Amino acid sequence: MKRFRQYRLTQEVRDKYADVQPIESHDFIYPYFVVDGSGRKEPIKTMPGIDRFSIDTLLDDIAELIKLGIDKVLLFGVIPQNEKDERGSAAYSPDNLISRAVRAIKEKYPKIIVFTDICLCEYTSHGHCGLLQNNDVDNDSTLPLLAEMAYQHALAGADFVAPSAMMDGQIEALRRRLDSDERTKSTRILAYSAKYASAYYGPFRDAADSAPSFGDRKTYQMDYRTKNQALEEIKADIEEGTDWIMVKPAMAYLDIIYRAAQEYPEYPLVAYQVSGEYSMLLNAALQGLFDRRRIFHESLTAIRRAGAKYIISYYAKQYCLDNK
Ligand code: PBG
Ligand code: ZN
Repeated sequence: MKRFRQYRLTQEVRDKYADVQPIESHDFIYPYFVVDGSGRKEPIKTMPGIDRFSIDTLLDDIAELIKLGIDKVLLFGVIPQNEKDERGSAAYSPDNLISRAVRAIKEKYPKIIVFTDICLCEYTSHGHCGLLQNNDVDNDSTLPLLAEMAYQHALAGADFVAPSAMMDGQIEALRRRLDSDERTKSTRILAYSAKYASAYYGPFRDAADSAPSFGDRKTYQMDYRTKNQALEEIKADIEEGTDWIMVKPAMAYLDIIYRAAQEYPEYPLVAYQVSGEYSMLLNAALQGLFDRRRIFHESLTAIRRAGAKYIISYYAKQYCLDNK
């Protein structure tokens, strides 16, 4: 008989044998939903504890993040329906909402590492991630718009642009555009490489008001019945020049995270614990089914154990508070 219980005798002994690196504040990327105007901090119904911020209240909130040691944020823009159009123009106009938010953050907190989401669905009248042609998203005509959006964010000072539209060739298109200007040459790319078409995005679409007005995203986001394709998507993004890679969602895709980490150890791997994962766990905890701290600690540790270096999580702030 091999005696394993010796490894579990006390908390101290268990700590000694734990071979998964604990998640630190610096490993988190905290997502924010940004709206125009001032003094706004509006709760999102489907995501308890998460708000939409105008730029001024966002700056106040980031002060709290800094106190907790979190230094990375990911920005999503949310605009009213009457500012949306077929081409998602508000996403890449020179004075777009996210560029203004980036400038404000960088001015006040130069050390905060700013990532911006690059996708059109929050800005198009039809809610799809690119330009429509014959009722489907057209790949190639969408690329220059995504590139322009990334370029505008980069000019404003974004450290990373993070294309999430799942258009083929988007990394190459962004890299070319960024490299064409001395000022944006050093802006890096975090690719949403293996992004599955997922029901777990439900609450986000409410938060960002970005649900497609017809159909779904299955012609561009990955089919969850595929696995090897995820590695091919990552490989293509690396060949196109991405700096960091991502798997999304996280908890139902730990196998993909694990394989990505094994296959590409030299590329920083990000996992996105998406809105539905957050809301599912938090709502269950609020109903008394779980202990909130424990369920999130276990879930986030599993994502780390699978091989994620960085984790995008709506729970990041609370996680750091829990561990204070
Ligand atoms: C935009 C985008 C989505 C998410 C991140 N970027 C939604 C989608 O693809 O429908 C989901 C994030 C989350 O659920 O937390 N393309
Ligand atoms: Zn999108």
